[in-house]
Amino acid sequence: MGLEMRAIARRDNRTSVLAMPGTQFEWGATQTMSDIFKKLLRLAKAQARTIHIASYEWERVQGFALGLSRDLDLPLRVWSAARGVEVLHSDGRREPDEPDNHDPLEVLKHIDANEQPGIWLLEDVHPYLSSEHHQLLRWIRQMCRMPESPRKLILLSTPGTSLHPDLCKEIPTVDVPLPDSSDLSTECRRVATDLDTNFTESSEALIEAARGLTVMEARLAFAQAAVENGRLDDAGVALVASEKERIIRQSGVLEYYHASEQWGDIGGLESLKKWLDQRGRGFRQGARNFGLEAPKGVLMLGVQGCGKSLLAKAVAAKWQFPLLRLDVGKVYAGIVGESEANIRKALQVAQALAPCVLWMDEIEKGLSGVDSSSQTDSGTSARVLGTLLTWMQEKKEPVFVVATANRVELLPPELLRKGRFDEIFFVDLPTEASRQEILNIHLRRKQRKPEEFDIPMLAQASAGFSGAELEEAIREGMFDAFSDNEEVKTKHILTAIKSTYPLSRTMREPIEGLRKWAKVRARAASNEAPEDLPAADSTPAPQLKQEKALNPFVPPAK
Ligand SMILES: Nc1ncnc2c1ncn2[C@@H]1O[C@H](COP(=O)(O)OP(=O)(O)OP(=O)(O)O)[C@@H](O)[C@H]1O
Ligand SMILES: [Mg+2]
Repeated sequence: MGLEMRAIARRDNRTSVLAMPGTQFEWGATQTMSDIFKKLLRLAKAQARTIHIASYEWERVQGFALGLSRDLDLPLRVWSAARGVEVLHSDGRREPDEPDNHDPLEVLKHIDANEQPGIWLLEDVHPYLSSEHHQLLRWIRQMCRMPESPRKLILLSTPGTSLHPDLCKEIPTVDVPLPDSSDLSTECRRVATDLDTNFTESSEALIEAARGLTVMEARLAFAQAAVENGRLDDAGVALVASEKERIIRQSGVLEYYHASEQWGDIGGLESLKKWLDQRGRGFRQGARNFGLEAPKGVLMLGVQGCGKSLLAKAVAAKWQFPLLRLDVGKVYAGIVGESEANIRKALQVAQALAPCVLWMDEIEKGLSGVDSSSQTDSGTSARVLGTLLTWMQEKKEPVFVVATANRVELLPPELLRKGRFDEIFFVDLPTEASRQEILNIHLRRKQRKPEEFDIPMLAQASAGFSGAELEEAIREGMFDAFSDNEEVKTKHILTAIKSTYPLSRTMREPIEGLRKWAKVRARAASNEAPEDLPAADSTPAPQLKQEKALNPFVPPAK
């Protein structure tokens, strides 16, 4: 099924990602290099004076600039902070040029005063596109109104898509997606030629394994595979795939998971599992022919430890999709402006890996307080949320988003609006029947036979327990049995259950609030009606050892 779905994604229509001035960027299905180039050429021929190209890949951007230089018959000059201005020839030769200056403002003044026609590609310019460099911003705007003759075109190359508000109304942005299979295939052939290695054209698996990498990253991965195996074919798949995992993890925001969890590992949650089964079929070609769009995603709200993360992993394994975990909290780490670049990069990787599952765990941690923080972080949170919402609404590719959240009050209302997710599910504490299933599952996982335990009694005794707490009670019981030099029995697990103070007691009110909220806004993940929460008892919650310890530094009372 996985392969079939991947093939569907490849057959997908390729549509636009060109953003018009004023909008950040538009998401659509991945485009090929030639689509992007055609757009740049169209903009240049439509007399755009300045074009913004958003890409991490300076080499591909230089490739586009060389193509424009050839087709428009204009010389190309490249400015970078490191090398100043150089003329770049189509055969790769570089010659230093005027002005011999590392200050972009001086370079712009020179271009303005110069009577020569040409294309100027300004690399490394993003650190200068902020309000501190007001004069430079003003000059760039000035350049958008250069006279028609002599023909001058300025290309601003930055890693991110967002431009300073002063510029984004005047300058169109072209967002370059990650390379697709045909770009990667070209690169693989190039590596084979450079290293004088055999390249098996039919090694689709090798190219597939590199999807999600930039050209430069893919080149290094292919080259390593070539050095290791002496050829470029299926034998290199494992190495390229592990390089990709390493690179994705290194980005800090995404993690690539090998999910092996199965439907049978999850107790209860029948409605949610059934719904996901149904949606999984929505990725097949038959569903397309029937007129269905690829499913967008699901939001799971609920009580901690009841299987939300487990389900995210099991879905990916069931559909045989790669699983990418996006750490929403980490997206916000770092410098303002980097957050947007982070999320954009992560979403691009997900698109390049489609069909895949993009798992956003504890989404409220990153997205909460969007309103208040818009005053404190210059609106970064709001912009990141905006990027995410637009992407979710408009993505055409089969990226299935599985978002999980525990605290609904922190979720921005925009996220809950119809159209973002196909469905919102509420994952409640397991009912008695589900607790029996969960106990069975975890006993089997510990190589024990559930038939040898009084499961109905244990399930009854553990009212209000989450799946995670049941798993913990079994572990605890096993420790007890082991230290008593006995095989684990019902009594050990029962003792562990009795000595546990479940979250549903300490968090009774928030859980009841969540249930009320979810009743009208979300679908229940389980078929059965929720059980009443165990009555709050008057015994205080047991304290941890460290909580009890007296601080030795408190001065004695007089
Ligand atoms: N329904 C379930 N069936 C089987 N095991 C479960 C179930 N729910 C929880 N568990 C066990 O508890 C562990 C923790 O659950 P999980 O991480 O999926 O909870 P969660 O709902 O994501 O919690 P949180 O909101 O804290 O992230 C799982 O790895 C699994 O072993
Ligand atoms: Mg979780």
